Amino acid sequence: MSQPTLPGSDAPQTPGGSAPGTPAGTPRAAAPATVATPFFVSEAGLQVMKREIAKYPPEQKASAVIACLAVVQQERGWISDESEAFVAKLLEMPEIAVHEVTTFYNMFNQQPVGRFKLNVCTNLPCQLRGGQDALEHLCSRLGVAEGGTSADGAFTVQKAECLGACADAPVMLVNDRQMVSFMTPERLDELVAMLASRAVIERAA
Ligand code: FES
Repeated sequence: MSQPTLPGSDAPQTPGGSAPGTPAGTPRAAAPATVATPFFVSEAGLQVMKREIAKYPPEQKASAVIACLAVVQQERGWISDESEAFVAKLLEMPEIAVHEVTTFYNMFNQQPVGRFKLNVCTNLPCQLRGGQDALEHLCSRLGVAEGGTSADGAFTVQKAECLGACADAPVMLVNDRQMVSFMTPERLDELVAMLASRAVIERAA
């Protein structure tokens, strides 16, 4: 059986590109020059945010919300209330609108998570092929409740909505990037053992 490979790069993600449909010559959003760097974002991260904002016309700067939240997540690992408030202020949009984005997308963590975040799909096609069993097996194996993090901080186990790979059910997503298919208890055990080894090696480094 092939071992799942994990995402190797933790390079900052900057979703989005040029504002779609923006006519040539349209004024770009002014990069906020006077925003103080908060403790949860590095100066480099703030500069990335400003570059993302500058891709959009001033009146559409809210379009950079996912990119800005992604910077926070990349640097801090999760999106706190104060992070949302900061992004809302930066983009001149209501905090609740930022919170709606954070809570809509699975990849945004609303609390700290373990080194490996395991999202098990429990929508119907996966459910019919053992998705719930896979979730319960993982929770039992790692000694966590659904949504919880293992005592050593290595694993967080969460439910996920359809991951778009129903034909490979049951499926699981590792750290929002690596899809793992046909998750039998044996494959789950193998994966957990491999990830646990990696966590130990990383801690010792
Ligand atoms: S229902 Fe699980 S991937 Fe679609």
